[in-house]
Amino acid sequence: MPRLSLVCVRALLPLLLVCAVAFPAELQTIDLPKPQTDGGKPLMQALKERSSLREFSPEKLSPQMLSNLLWAAFGINRPDSGRRTAPTASNRQEIDIYVAMAEGLYLYDAKAHQLQPVLAEDLRALTGTQPFVRDAPVNLIFVADFSKMGKSSDENKVFYSAADTGFISQNVYLFCASEGLATVVRGSVDKPGLAAAMKLRPEQRVILAQTVGYPKK
Ligand SMILES: Cc1cc2nc3c(=O)[nH]c(=O)nc-3n(C[C@H](O)[C@H](O)[C@H](O)COP(=O)(O)O)c2cc1C
Repeated sequence: MPRLSLVCVRALLPLLLVCAVAFPAELQTIDLPKPQTDGGKPLMQALKERSSLREFSPEKLSPQMLSNLLWAAFGINRPDSGRRTAPTASNRQEIDIYVAMAEGLYLYDAKAHQLQPVLAEDLRALTGTQPFVRDAPVNLIFVADFSKMGKSSDENKVFYSAADTGFISQNVYLFCASEGLATVVRGSVDKPGLAAAMKLRPEQRVILAQTVGYPKK
């Protein structure tokens, strides 16, 4: 490289680095493919195989697999009424599923069946205290929005949002058992730290996280 160009590249390098940090690549909305709602293992077989696994391959889930996973977790199964695959107290539907992947953080929009961009940062390592969370392809974060829970007491909001999350998590477990995926639900999360990194509003609470991926070979 001629001497002048080399000098130019050296001079511009700090500026390029500042730009890369200040303007991270923008995340786009992901239109999830239509979920495949037939097939899968019979329920009794999925129940027999449901388990927590903590060793994950870094292999990514295909868009179709992600679509099916999120629909099974908490998708709309009765479009006429907008009701979901998991029950919620008084049908408040207060649980949001955030999806932490290498490319960034997304919010599952069940109605549009899309992933809405939230942050173009890899937050996987912050979704739990166990080392596997940073390399597994998907960490789901179940976040309750207390502002959707009416005038219930704080005690009831905590209780119902935890119960409602349990149903969603079990849907994820059964889907994973059916598809041969590995998963584990996790309470061991620095919740205030994660909420701050996700830039959640004060009325939003991290309830649990759940890692999903292919089992390590
Ligand atoms: C509310 C809740 C929180 C959990 N938190 C963690 C966790 O932080 N880390 C972990 O590795 N497993 C966690 N687990 C998974 C349990 O350890 C696991 O379900 C239990 O050992 C039984 O194993 P099984 O799911 O294979 O039947 C949690 C499970 C539940 C229901």
